[in-house]
Amino acid sequence: MTSRIMGTGSYLPELAVTNDDLAKIMDTSDEWISSRTGIRQRRLVKDETTAFMASEASKIAIKEAGIRAEEIDLIIVGTITGDYVTPSTACEVQAAIGAINAAAFDVNAACTGFMTALHTAYAYMAAGIYTTALVIGAETLSKIMDWDDRSTCVLFGDGAGAAIVKKDETGLISLVQGSDGEKGLNLCCKNRGNHHPFIEGDLHTYYTEMNGQEVYKFAVTKVPQCIMEVLEQGNVTAEEVKYFILHQANMRIIQSVAKRLKVSEDKFPISLDTCGNVSAASIPILLDKVNKEGLLKRGDKLVLAGFGGGLTWGATVIEW
Ligand code: UT7
Repeated sequence: MTSRIMGTGSYLPELAVTNDDLAKIMDTSDEWISSRTGIRQRRLVKDETTAFMASEASKIAIKEAGIRAEEIDLIIVGTITGDYVTPSTACEVQAAIGAINAAAFDVNAACTGFMTALHTAYAYMAAGIYTTALVIGAETLSKIMDWDDRSTCVLFGDGAGAAIVKKDETGLISLVQGSDGEKGLNLCCKNRGNHHPFIEGDLHTYYTEMNGQEVYKFAVTKVPQCIMEVLEQGNVTAEEVKYFILHQANMRIIQSVAKRLKVSEDKFPISLDTCGNVSAASIPILLDKVNKEGLLKRGDKLVLAGFGGGLTWGATVIEW
């Protein structure tokens, strides 16, 4: 017994900010951003929250799966930008959609968050604990960007993607995931520091910092490696895979992965050009895009693969 994706949904904020828009407020250019990353615009929130975007994406996925919210017994959100420390985004979504019978919690695996959430849902189902999960990646990254740091703020965007996952005979074929905490500070956003009346408090607000070149080297090595591993584990060849749905961080990383796997770039759909890097939301947003374009049919094999802060990585082979 495994688990299968039965419906997908996504939500992107209305506000589209192009590279040229950014060039008006900081020392950057469309040429620099698009040639190094492939990103041309990103969507940024105005008054939307992480939970709102997650809930809107979920409603679409629930409708497509043809289920009622009450049937959902598990909600997992991959996010590093929840609206509250507590309640979790998953609990906020539960209330917003009326999934009264669900257990709900968030996972923090940065850009690998959706993969970790999906794998967790799968493990619960394989153990016979739950049958119908709502798995979400949702981020409001704009609020943890230093808008004076052009090396990071131009890369990221806001949005959410969701999938309904049900216990089934077919679906998830194999998975790998891992982490390398020793390299964690190459992509980090520090939390509030220690603060209480008996010490000098640290009330500084911290923003995202990244050693881009180290993360780049990590990605172009680890992503093809974990994809080869997950294909071998699932006894599936790269040729059999219809699409590789990768975390959308950088077009050059995706091209490098395609080359290492000796697979045509046509098998790597893209959303980073219009959405930027949406961390945990990147993979479900892209999956929903491919699904809504009618490019998937029952039995198609897909690889989903994410990597990012932690440092973390995760990949899965699924049958649609
Ligand atoms: O999901 C998270 C995963 N993150 C990633 O996958 C990121 C992986 N890394 C990368 O994609 C690339 O390292 C970046 C796109 C982030 C940066 O590209 P790079 O070729 O590594 O650039 P760099 O950091 O070495 O910077 C080159 C130059 C520097 O100027 P100098 O020192 O050579 O004069 C930067 O100050 O580019 C400058 N620069 C910019 N110039 C214009 C940095 N950011 C910008 C900018 N616009 N936005």
